[in-house]
Amino acid sequence: MAEELIISTSTDKDERYATLVPQIQSLVEGEPDIIANLSNVVAALRQSMNFFWVGFYIVKNDQLVLGPFQGPIACTRIDFGKGVCGASWKEKKTILVPDVEAFPGHIACSSASRSEIVLPAFKNGEVVLVLDVDSDKPNDFDSTDQEALEKIIRIIEKFL
Ligand code: SME
Repeated sequence: MAEELIISTSTDKDERYATLVPQIQSLVEGEPDIIANLSNVVAALRQSMNFFWVGFYIVKNDQLVLGPFQGPIACTRIDFGKGVCGASWKEKKTILVPDVEAFPGHIACSSASRSEIVLPAFKNGEVVLVLDVDSDKPNDFDSTDQEALEKIIRIIEKFL
């Protein structure tokens, strides 16, 4: 794995993701341990993109349980279908929320959170975990984030 993360200083999100995504691939290459890999992925995302909160919720029985994350402390368990994370799990799709206050049932782990994107990762057609990214600014995520984060999800699925 790479010893040091190269962080693009570009103001262009596309460029920052373009620098980050191949490094995420190298970070996890050859390491089979899921928690070790998720921990490095989340740290690399936080360092490169400076997200307010970024982390994983892992499916355990009938709940999502907090996994590796970076940012303020967060809710530890989320029920199927609840909040943005539970909805992403139930609907098996990425959910982009420009204004969390307008999302029915949004779970406010932090009152500072204003917008959010949640992406599911699959194994054998079932959701195994979700990647949750929160911003303290409204309308902070767009299709650039969705496309780049989905590329990262596809890398993650290879070691799940
Ligand atoms: N807002 C999420 C809960 C997790 S925290 O944002 C870290 C939700 O509604 O599912």
